[in-house]
Amino acid sequence: MCGIVGYIGKQQAAPIVVAGLESLEYRGYDSAGIAEISDSSAFITKQAGRVSGLKDSVAKNTHTSHVAIGHTRWATHGSPTTANAHPHSNTDQTIMVVHNGIIENFQAIKTKLQAEGYTFVSQTDTEVIPHLIDYYYRASNDLTLAFRQALQDLQGAYGIAVVSTHEPNKILVARLSSPLVVGVGKGEYFLASDPSAVMDYTKEVIFLNDFDVATITADGCVVHNLKQEKSSKPVAELLDYDSQQASLGDFPHFMLKEIFEAPATIRSASLGRVKAAENIVKLGGLESVIAQLKYIDRIVIVACGTSYYAGLVGEYLLEEIAGIAVEVQLASEFKYRNEPFSRSTALLAISQSGETADTIAALKKVEDYGVLRIGIVNATGSTIARMTDAGVYCHAGPEQAVASTKAFIAQVTVLAQIALSLGSPSNKLFKPLLQELEDLPAKAQQVLDTAPSIKKIAEKYAHHRDFLFIGRGYSFPSALEGALKLKEVSYIHAEGYAAGEMKHGPLAMIDEHFPTFALATDSVLLDKTYSNIEEIKARKGPVVAVATVGNKAIAKLCDDVIYIPATLAQTQPLLEAIATQLFAYYIAVAKDLNVDRPRNLAKSVTVE
Ligand code: F6R
Repeated sequence: MCGIVGYIGKQQAAPIVVAGLESLEYRGYDSAGIAEISDSSAFITKQAGRVSGLKDSVAKNTHTSHVAIGHTRWATHGSPTTANAHPHSNTDQTIMVVHNGIIENFQAIKTKLQAEGYTFVSQTDTEVIPHLIDYYYRASNDLTLAFRQALQDLQGAYGIAVVSTHEPNKILVARLSSPLVVGVGKGEYFLASDPSAVMDYTKEVIFLNDFDVATITADGCVVHNLKQEKSSKPVAELLDYDSQQASLGDFPHFMLKEIFEAPATIRSASLGRVKAAENIVKLGGLESVIAQLKYIDRIVIVACGTSYYAGLVGEYLLEEIAGIAVEVQLASEFKYRNEPFSRSTALLAISQSGETADTIAALKKVEDYGVLRIGIVNATGSTIARMTDAGVYCHAGPEQAVASTKAFIAQVTVLAQIALSLGSPSNKLFKPLLQELEDLPAKAQQVLDTAPSIKKIAEKYAHHRDFLFIGRGYSFPSALEGALKLKEVSYIHAEGYAAGEMKHGPLAMIDEHFPTFALATDSVLLDKTYSNIEEIKARKGPVVAVATVGNKAIAKLCDDVIYIPATLAQTQPLLEAIATQLFAYYIAVAKDLNVDRPRNLAKSVTVE
């Protein structure tokens, strides 16, 4: 989604801002722009298309500038044109604004400003902001005051950065439900909507909170909270971030690199937490709420997309291992539902980015209920990580491909650990699951070693228009996630179904042109899955199966088989996910698609 970068200091600002925008490219965007202040003049360069185009245009500029803000836009209001690209400005280009989020009441503000004689050149909601600041500035000649007054009029969600020729040596920023961090350098400050954009320059960052308005100069950053009506000198936090992890290395795509990180991901999510020899699982992030957790008899998991499917695996795990009733809800539905909620219920939010708008809204909904809010988050310091009472980090490292792969692996690993930590060591599954978590990285590697044969199978099916994914028990969420992965990177229509549902409708679609991907790994339900496969074969449907090594019978039943090592039913989703991720990846490559940045999608969905 949209990205913001800013710089103020002694260096030439534009190259730093453009480099920051490049590092945010993976989030998805369709236009980019930058506003620089130089000797009290403003220079705006913006265009539809890639940041590389913007970089070339900016390189032709001859002025020096030590203050700049930049933006990558993912179109919401208005198509991806140069006119709609940010920065937007007031008519005389004295006030320049970049904005992430949505101004819900922009139409009303626009109508009011038009009545005052303001003219608009874009279709965006953002353009009202510079005009509104201009409107208030004309009355007070005070940029900070005008900005705060404008903010009071805005409804919606925003991360905003403003530069102005009226006060050329500062950047003003504001945050409400849209992430913004300020990177602290020596005599210089960086601004970004995602810390990864400033990590090459500084690891010290100030996280802005909702309703914060920051005034940044080369000498300091002062934050004023509009709600609490108080100003403070914010404290910077040191971020642990390895920029190496964010580079492609020898892999052709981030998606493949991240799939191949599965063994390391499981190891890193388990490091210091899982100790099979001592029969313990230790989650430091939950220790502060351990007393509260004892009174929890129901957990509601909220998440979106792949994180939601990880939550579905978590439901099975928490119910079976910890004996706690679990309900998994799509965050976008949860926030508008009116359901009874007692304090013995805990809300568990799962998010790779920690910035997903719907998941944040779900957490906000229960803010005043007094319920415990726990997070499973990958991005350290993100909004969800900071707004939850306690949580467990995934430690998967930065995920760059739009399609989530290693984050799912980490989320399910952490969910298994939470289930163990809330369960009793006397549960007969406790010890085996603990041991299996230690053994899994090697098994994940074995699945990765079969990548060449998965590639061949994928190429055979790449021309199909539709795909059905089926599974039972722990493999049911795997079917849903497998279908999502395939559709998002290959644009093939894919549906995930519980195998037992076949006769209740989906079987009608099956013929020789409609293949099925069956998650048919060893479990007490395998015979039932066989029956479903038989029914599909009887209707001439081609079947690709994922099965456990040693299962020779399935090779006779299905057209193609991907074998994975034997593991517990509870950990099968982890190995199955690697197989379905590779299958989706190789189909997308066979179709010559932009695997890392599928059309219409963005990495982090920061608007509703
Ligand atoms: C699918 C995918 C999305 C995300 C979803 C939630 O591959 O990446 O479905 O899983 O947008 O994002 P997070 O986990 O960042 O909250």
